Amino acid sequence: MSVRLRELKYKIKALDLQEKNAGLAEEDLYYQAATSVTVLSSANLNLLAATALSLISYSMDLIHKFLNIVAPPTTFFSLCLFLPPYWTFKFFLSIINSIFSENVAGKVVHITGASSGIGEQLAYEYAKRGARLALSARRETALREVADRSREYGSPDVIIMRADVSKVEDCSRLVDETINHFGRLDHLVNNAAIGLATLFEEADDITNLRPIMETNFWGSVYTTRFALPHLKKSKGKIVAMSSADSWMPAPRRNVYSASKAALVSFYETLRVEVGSEVGVTIVTPGYIESELTKGKFITKEGKMQVDQDLRDVEVSAMPVGSVSGCAEAIVNSTLRGDGYLTVPWWFRMTYVIKVLCPELVEWTFRMMYMSGSKTTAARETPSKKILDATGVKDLFYPSSIQSPDLKTE
Ligand SMILES: NC(=O)c1ccc[n+]([C@@H]2O[C@H](COP(=O)([O-])OP(=O)(O)OC[C@H]3O[C@@H](n4cnc5c(N)ncnc54)[C@H](OP(=O)(O)O)[C@@H]3O)[C@@H](O)[C@H]2O)c1
Repeated sequence: MSVRLRELKYKIKALDLQEKNAGLAEEDLYYQAATSVTVLSSANLNLLAATALSLISYSMDLIHKFLNIVAPPTTFFSLCLFLPPYWTFKFFLSIINSIFSENVAGKVVHITGASSGIGEQLAYEYAKRGARLALSARRETALREVADRSREYGSPDVIIMRADVSKVEDCSRLVDETINHFGRLDHLVNNAAIGLATLFEEADDITNLRPIMETNFWGSVYTTRFALPHLKKSKGKIVAMSSADSWMPAPRRNVYSASKAALVSFYETLRVEVGSEVGVTIVTPGYIESELTKGKFITKEGKMQVDQDLRDVEVSAMPVGSVSGCAEAIVNSTLRGDGYLTVPWWFRMTYVIKVLCPELVEWTFRMMYMSGSKTTAARETPSKKILDATGVKDLFYPSSIQSPDLKTE
C-alpha cells in the first residue's frame, strides 16, 4: 500500500473515531486509526490467502476429476500401442540372455536356508555348474550333508556356517565368513524362511508371529545390506525368494504373505536404487515340495510344528511342483538375469486374475478355505473336502511330502 494511500485511510478512520471518541487528543486518534487499519489489512490479507487456497484446492480437485476420466482410456490405448513392440523386444532380449547366460563356474554363491527344501536343491544346481558355495542355516548336521552332496555334484569348494538370519549379527557374520574364506561374493540367495498357518484372530499373543517377519523379511534385508558392497564389486546378483502368496489373500498365511509381499516391494525398490550394478531376480514360487509343504508351520504360540492336516487344508487339490525342477528354473533364470520368475510358470495366471478381479479371488478363498471360524472346523473346509473326495493327493503330492518327518539337527 502506498504511503499516500495509507495516510488517507488513517485520516478517514481518525475522522470516524473522532465522532465516537470526542475529546481524545489528535495523535491518540491517529494511533488508534493506524492500529485498526493494520488489523483490518491483515484480516483482509488472511481472507485473501484463504480464498486463494480454496481456489487452488478447487482447481486441484478439478484436475484430479479430469484425470480420473482421461487416465483410464489414455492408459489403455497407450498400452495397446506400447505392449506389442515392448513384448517383442523382451522376447528377443530373453533369447539373447539365454544364449549369453552367466557362467558361474568358480564364482562364489551364498545360499541362506540351505539345509532343506529349495535352498538345498539350489546348492546342488549351483554345484553342478561348478560354483563355490557358502551354505548357511540353523541345522548344522543337515548343512554338512548338503555340503558333501554339493561336492559330489561338482562344487570345488563348499563351506557351511550355522546362522540364524533373524539375528542381525549372524547376517553380518555369514557375509564376513564368506568373504574371509573366498575373498569375494558373486551371488547371494536369500532363501531362508518360516511358514505360518494360523488365523489372525487365533493368535492371542500377536508378538508370537514376529519371528516370521524377522526371518523372512528382515533376514533377507540384513544379509543384503552386508553383502551389497561385495556384490557391487563383483557385479553380482541377488536372488530374492518371495512367494505367490505375496499377491494371494490366502487365509492363515496373513503375516507370512505380508512378509513375502514386503520382499517384492523392497527388492523392486533396491533394483531401482542400485541400477545395473547388481542384478536382482525376484522368485515367486507356487507350491513346491519341501519341509514347508510337508506342513512345517509356526503355531499361534510361536512354536515350530508339522501339521499335515492343516497342510492339506492349505494346499488342497493343487499340484505340488518338484523341488529339483524349481531349483533348476531359479538358477537358469538368475543366470539369464531375469527380473522375475514364477515357478511353476502357470501360477503367474493367478496374478493376472487377482489384478483383474480381486473380489472374485477373495470370495473364492473365503468359500474354499474358511469354514465355521473355530480351529476344529478349520480342518473341514471345502478345500480339504475336495482333496479327500477327489483322491488326487497321491497324484498331486510328491512322495517326499507325504510323511511328516523333518531333518533333525
Ligand atoms: N515350498 C513352497 O511351496 C514355497 C512356496 C513359495 C515360496 N517358498 C519359499 O521358498 C523358500 C524356501 O522354503 P522351502 O519351501 O524350501 O522350505 P523349507 O524346506 O522349510 O526350507 C526353509 C529353510 O530356511 C531355513 N531357515 C528357517 N528359519 C531360519 C533362520 N531363522 N535362520 C536361518 N535359516 C532359517 C531352514 O533351515 P534351518 O531350520 O536349519 O534353519 C530351511 O533350510 C522360502 O523363502 C519360502 O518362503 C516356498
